[in-house]
Amino acid sequence: MIYHIPWMYMPVRTVLAMWNQLTKTEIPELARSSVLMRERSRVEETLQAMQRAGTERLQVISDFDMTLTRFAHNGSRVPTTHNILDNRLLISEACTRKIRQLLNTYYPIEIDAGRTVEEKLPLMVKWWTSVHDLLIDQNIRKDMLSQAVRESNAMLRDGYKVFFDSLAERQVPLLIFSAGVGDVLEEVMRQKLVFHPNVHVISNYMDFDHTGVLRAFKGPLIHTFNKQEGSVQQVVHLKQLEGRPNVLLLGDSLGDLTMADGVTQPQNVLTVGFLNDQVEERKESYINAFDIVLVRDETLDVPNALLSYITSGK
Ligand code: C5P
Ligand code: MG
Repeated sequence: MIYHIPWMYMPVRTVLAMWNQLTKTEIPELARSSVLMRERSRVEETLQAMQRAGTERLQVISDFDMTLTRFAHNGSRVPTTHNILDNRLLISEACTRKIRQLLNTYYPIEIDAGRTVEEKLPLMVKWWTSVHDLLIDQNIRKDMLSQAVRESNAMLRDGYKVFFDSLAERQVPLLIFSAGVGDVLEEVMRQKLVFHPNVHVISNYMDFDHTGVLRAFKGPLIHTFNKQEGSVQQVVHLKQLEGRPNVLLLGDSLGDLTMADGVTQPQNVLTVGFLNDQVEERKESYINAFDIVLVRDETLDVPNALLSYITSGK
């Protein structure tokens, strides 16, 4: 019996080693120096499980501003959907000044690693409601929005075409969950020719009167840190998301991590966080919170590589 033990275990070990080799996820993009992972083995296991489950079990949930759009280009900040509205076609110079003051006050609070979410919550509500009230006072015309977007420096991340087109081709639903302005982000995608039928949006939408003038914002306010609220009801009703328990989640804020809270019976959730700003101060918290952290990466190369791997199974 004793003589048999090594023979019994050796092949098992060999088989396991071969199996590990065979199943090892080969995604060269994950070896880039901009990619940080708390637990690479968990990432690999999740990716393998998602690949085995197949494309028809997958959905992508993504934030918009500074996740699908670039953070900066040639050293200048790329405008968020709110800042795209900063155009004389839509708002006055005085309004621009006030919105910029609010941005200078509240954006540092939004990304402050030294404050808790509880501390930030009321301040974010204050920021968003103040800006929305200012915008409502400007009598913004719906028919001017597309020109304002065209004249803006809005930029999706490099690789966006592959990202949007391949998800559409494979009929993988993409849920965009944004605290930005829904009308604006839809227009950005429309102008870039990527607003495909598989894209669904939850965001702050403008409410125009019968003459096409902005009078209010619809529905409950979405800001950076309440992306779980309201989502449940809205997501549950989206038929296209049913039977898709595997989620690739993309965000740039810790608040984006709750975007998948509305998914019924999630099985594998892989989270990717873009760390754009205040890198050293926030690195540790991002590594602890997201499965994969992308540091100052202005591209969608890693999400594209992950999607290509997941959907290459069957
Ligand atoms: O799409 P996302 O949820 O990222 O949109 C929200 C982002 O827009 C926030 O991260 C915030 O920094 C930015 N914002 C802004 N101006 C405002 C309100 C929010 O640029 N008035
Ligand atoms: Mg964002």
